Amino acid sequence: MSSTIIVNTPVLSGAGALYRKHGLTAKTVVIFDENTRNLFRDQVIATLEAEGFRLLELTVPARETSKSLNAAYRLYATMIEAGVDRSWNLLAVGGGVVGDLGGFIAASYYRGIPVVQCPTTLLAMTDSAIGGKVAINHPLGKNLIGFFHMPELVLIDPSFLRTLPEREIFAGMAEVVKYGFIADRTFLDWLEEHFDRITALKEPFLTEAVRRSSSIKADVVEKDFRETTGLRATLNFGHTFAHGLEKLAEYRYLRHGEAVTLGMICALWLSNGLGYLSEKDLQGGLDLLARFRFPKGVIKRRFLAHSSEALLENMFSDKKKLDSKLRFVLLKKPGEAFLLEENVDDREVLKAIERARAFVATAAKH
Ligand SMILES: NC(=O)c1ccc[n+]([C@@H]2O[C@H](COP(=O)([O-])OP(=O)(O)OC[C@H]3O[C@@H](n4cnc5c(N)ncnc54)[C@H](O)[C@@H]3O)[C@@H](O)[C@H]2O)c1
Repeated sequence: MSSTIIVNTPVLSGAGALYRKHGLTAKTVVIFDENTRNLFRDQVIATLEAEGFRLLELTVPARETSKSLNAAYRLYATMIEAGVDRSWNLLAVGGGVVGDLGGFIAASYYRGIPVVQCPTTLLAMTDSAIGGKVAINHPLGKNLIGFFHMPELVLIDPSFLRTLPEREIFAGMAEVVKYGFIADRTFLDWLEEHFDRITALKEPFLTEAVRRSSSIKADVVEKDFRETTGLRATLNFGHTFAHGLEKLAEYRYLRHGEAVTLGMICALWLSNGLGYLSEKDLQGGLDLLARFRFPKGVIKRRFLAHSSEALLENMFSDKKKLDSKLRFVLLKKPGEAFLLEENVDDREVLKAIERARAFVATAAKH
């Protein structure tokens, strides 16, 4: 299973021919959130209209709660009333919220219409828009209701990131660095060298970082689409800890990428504590993660203020656990991750969290 991913500025011009080449009609439901509508609507709509597209525009509030069955239900009604049928497709222009909701609607409407992702956050460009996992939230948990629905195309224009707040850039950068850790040592070294240029959105570094991250994700997904061999699970490096932190932060006060960065710090310590990762590689990884700039108050209140026990307890409600065992992705060395099959003693996990807390507390002082 794979999608065609195009990383280019401008990415939408020539969409008519591209859609035809991929067997897509020029009848498209375009979904934005309020912010991406304000920022990109005129440009996107003008480009598509000039290419002869027939369009239906939808907009949802720019918040996580838009990923709900209620929101989808309302949008289905607008689509039905507008005569959208199976011959249409859907273009999602936004971050992970719009991408997940748009993908969910496309997967379910008329038993499924094609979706094209046009991600506008760094997280969406490098992670959520790729791989076909689409979901909405249920009051009992995040991302619980959804589908595997591969996008026909992923159209990425890194220049869309110019308006993205710095906090979101660093949150997205967490996933970029994650790809280096799990799959590509050379990329990791390159990220280390150009970290400040990428986070300052300097070209060609930004486009190269997006291109390589999206291609690593696509490659992993292609080899293990339904997460059966453990390979796709390595994309969850740092995420077992991160999901616990996000839960403690009520899914509101910590960006996903912030939780993933803290989670990767814990996972590096755990990899070292269990004897898989050398001291030198541990230190190298920690040095890179210490370069992330997150609001200090958030780190204090949403990580340091919690006990290690509280975090561990909240990690157990992670939906990715199997038979109530926590599953950890660990590093053998930079660029090589694996899913640990054995059970990890809680004491080892607590030790790793303690060490991560001490490291973050020291780093936060500087
Ligand atoms: N499907 C997957 O595989 C997958 C993977 C990771 C995360 N996710 C999901 O992704 C969501 C988070 O995505 P996100 O971090 O992109 O958040 P988001 O979609 O909420 O976007 C963050 C904020 O940035 C704004 N924004 C978007 N593009 C902008 C731009 N170019 N300039 C200025 N502002 C812009 C949005 O309106 C929003 O306010 C979560 O719901 C998460 O569950 C899905």
